[in-house]
Amino acid sequence: MLPTLDEKPVYVNRMFARIAPTYDLMNRLMTFGQDQGWRREMLAHCNLPPRGSLLDVGAGTGDIAYTALQRFPTLRAVATDFTYEMMAAGVGKTPGVFLPFAQADAYALPFPDNTFDAVVSGFLVRNVVDRVAAFREMARVTRPGGRVVCLETTPPSNSVLGPLFRLYFFRIVPFIGSIVARDRQAYAYLPHSTVAFPSPEELARLMEQAGLQHVFFVERMLRSVAIHVGVKLAPPAAK
Ligand SMILES: C[S@@+](CC[C@H](N)C(=O)[O-])C[C@H]1O[C@@H](n2cnc3c(N)ncnc32)[C@H](O)[C@@H]1O
Repeated sequence: MLPTLDEKPVYVNRMFARIAPTYDLMNRLMTFGQDQGWRREMLAHCNLPPRGSLLDVGAGTGDIAYTALQRFPTLRAVATDFTYEMMAAGVGKTPGVFLPFAQADAYALPFPDNTFDAVVSGFLVRNVVDRVAAFREMARVTRPGGRVVCLETTPPSNSVLGPLFRLYFFRIVPFIGSIVARDRQAYAYLPHSTVAFPSPEELARLMEQAGLQHVFFVERMLRSVAIHVGVKLAPPAAK
């Protein structure tokens, strides 16, 4: 059900190209409309200064960056993704809000070091093979003192709610995907990649390995998603 690590980038790129037209609608349906609330919450963790700057990596149709521009009208925001079709579905979708998109791989962001006050990713990191490298690249373009904030699904726990989530994720979500997106395979990839994803505690360690500090996370929707926050500290001054 999951691609091999070698196949994964092309598999992921083609999958998102296919589902781009119905991507936003599927998000609203699958999360019972809660996904935009998580995006607003992750932005609150960005600690953006007045007239700050934000990079949304793996931005897809740009929901995080659009939400940010609506909440902080003086913000400068850029959205990047490696799937052209996802960005095309997002261009101009929020009337009166201009969001620039740029096609870029999460491992090679086309920005100088220390550029943004905050770098965010929503449901991206599950799709990349080398998560530490992706976080390291996000940290590189974050200014010292700035934040890297990540929103992702989390593997179901062994609690009593675990079986309920498995039923929802493995049976109901692919069924909705087969009707709305006409792509059962893409929405079967979601639960399988979530189960194979690190726990929130492990993901926090990966962010630390990428050089981020003061890493913490909060869990939402009965622990099925988590928001991780890390700070890029300034390097110690040379003596
Ligand atoms: C689940 S969508 C998330 C879209 C958006 N961030 C959101 O909150 O809904 C994941 C996005 O990550 C992108 N992506 C996956 N791997 C990537 C990579 N290596 N570099 C850039 N984008 C990538 C996909 O093209 C897709 O648009």
